[in-house]
Amino acid sequence: MSTDIDTGSATGVDAPPGAAAVVVDQLSAGYPGVQALDEVSITVGTGSICALLGANGSGKSTLFKALLGLHRPTAGTVRLFGMEPTKARRRNQVSYVPQHEQVDTSFPISVEQVVMMGRYGHMGFTRRTRPADRQACDQALDQVGLSQLRRRGIGELSGGQRKRAFLARAIAQQAPLMLLDEPFAGVDRGSEELISSVLKTLRDTTGTTVLISTHHLAGVEDLADEVVLLHQRVLAAGLPGEVLTEEQLGRSFGAVLRETN
Ligand SMILES: Nc1ncnc2c1ncn2[C@@H]1O[C@H](COP(=O)(O)OP(=O)(O)OP(=O)(O)O)[C@@H](O)[C@H]1O
Ligand SMILES: [Mg+2]
Repeated sequence: MSTDIDTGSATGVDAPPGAAAVVVDQLSAGYPGVQALDEVSITVGTGSICALLGANGSGKSTLFKALLGLHRPTAGTVRLFGMEPTKARRRNQVSYVPQHEQVDTSFPISVEQVVMMGRYGHMGFTRRTRPADRQACDQALDQVGLSQLRRRGIGELSGGQRKRAFLARAIAQQAPLMLLDEPFAGVDRGSEELISSVLKTLRDTTGTTVLISTHHLAGVEDLADEVVLLHQRVLAAGLPGEVLTEEQLGRSFGAVLRETN
């Protein structure tokens, strides 16, 4: 592992120069009797925020799992900074906030301990924390507005606060690629703005690449540099202004989202 990564900077990309952060080529994946993704090809440039939009069941979470090597595709390839997903994860190149985080509320673990888990990839197997680890956790807690609640049990947070705690864990990891599956679900407007602002700051200050799935169309144009509309296949991809048209959105969401946004 390079020393760059240990500095906590997202410039610690362990990749061939010029490699795109994410390259998905002709990816197909699914479950018994379900074709979730069909020949999906996506490229996300290093240092950009890409929003993945799609209706319920359009394959967003399956795509994230395939990107991480947690779901085996039936065809196609994934490269993160030119590496296979498992290698990229081993090298601390990617952080992930799943759509649904399993929390055992009876297990006494504090918010700051959860956030410290994001640092495990930086520690040796003794898991001894160093000042850089504590600093990264403090900063991440501050960025998501949870410093005051750091000693609370994770099971004692509201749903929206818990989402922010898991985001802080990913921020503390300081990987050059963040995969966030529905980070805005269940959070209020203020938290959504705070999260968007944190992501833009990470992109601008450390060159972090962010792939984020969301249903919230309002705000996407402001947040994202690139947008992908997914419905089992890629329906459209490009700049927000090109992709977020009535016609394209109608194709991917039907009437549902137009009524709610
Ligand atoms: N574990 C599973 N077993 C069988 N089918 C699954 C499983 N997980 C997802 N699916 C199916 O695969 C398809 C894609 O699901 P996926 O969860 O990737 O969609 P999504 O875009 O993330 O949806 P949402 O917006 O509701 O989170 C859907 O048809 C879904 O029912
Ligand atoms: Mg999902």
